[in-house]
Amino acid sequence: MGNPLLRETASLIEDPQSNEIRTLVDVMQVSMEAAGGVGLAAPQIGVPLRLIIFNVPGERLEKEDGVARSEIPQTILINPEIEYIGDETALGWEGCLSVPGLRGLVPRHTYIRYRGLDLQGGLIERDAVGFHARVVQHEFDHLDGILYPERMDDLTNLVYESEIQAFTDDKCAPE
Ligand code: NI
Repeated sequence: MGNPLLRETASLIEDPQSNEIRTLVDVMQVSMEAAGGVGLAAPQIGVPLRLIIFNVPGERLEKEDGVARSEIPQTILINPEIEYIGDETALGWEGCLSVPGLRGLVPRHTYIRYRGLDLQGGLIERDAVGFHARVVQHEFDHLDGILYPERMDDLTNLVYESEIQAFTDDKCAPE
């Protein structure tokens, strides 16, 4: 947080099938796994391009949403777009690999539809709800230079992760 690259509007990717993009995805996957996150956007590793990756285990979704859900498989989304479905929003805890050590309670749309391209240039289009929708909105924001604290409406709910137990029980891996 504070690095100018995280404030930029990222650029569209012209050729999803290029070797450069494949290499970028490899680096992002390693970075995300090393940090134990569920999502990452290219600007977070210093590359101002419109690419996000995410992967959420079923147990994590179930814990966050309180209902059984199947895993969000490893997804690479190039030039993503989000459409909000309805007006419903919900508060949920978020962390961010670019805002280490902190957690915040952030309002997000509950229902979204998102689309983007995969590494073969094929279209991915999905409806998402709850934590799945939250992760995609969080990562998408990175492409427009927005970090989650800017989405918060009550900064008394921005806390150190060491203090999070007072608010909730362990729902807070970084994104
Ligand atoms: Ni983030």
